[in-house]
Amino acid sequence: MALINWDGNLSVNVEEIDQQHKKLIGMINELNDAMRTGRGKDVMGMIINDLNTYTVTHFKTEDGYFTRFGYPDTISHRKEHDSFVQKSSDIKNDFTKGKLAVSIDLMDFLGKWWKNHILVTDKGYSRFLNEKGVR
Ligand SMILES: [Fe+2]
Repeated sequence: MALINWDGNLSVNVEEIDQQHKKLIGMINELNDAMRTGRGKDVMGMIINDLNTYTVTHFKTEDGYFTRFGYPDTISHRKEHDSFVQKSSDIKNDFTKGKLAVSIDLMDFLGKWWKNHILVTDKGYSRFLNEKGVR
């Protein structure tokens, strides 16, 4: 069962970003399934690595739009991204060192963070970018 289901409510009305969010949600669901089915450390580690890398790529895409169009909430949005990247790389490093296991609590944190970030923080640029002609 998927941890997060994509539906229209999560759309930010920008095709490229919606696609990236779908991919990220897919990776989170993959990690959740891997945890639930007790996959090995190398499989989990690979998913965590990919998730970490893709998260950075995705934030760069969003930031690129902010810079290009002068999004007024860039600073606060960037702050949320930066603190999550820090958290995400801590998770990756702790997992690699064997200091952290992927748990229901961790998945719950990841699922909630993304849902909240997309629904609240990302939705904040929807109209702004649409008005600049970005779809
Ligand atoms: Fe964002």
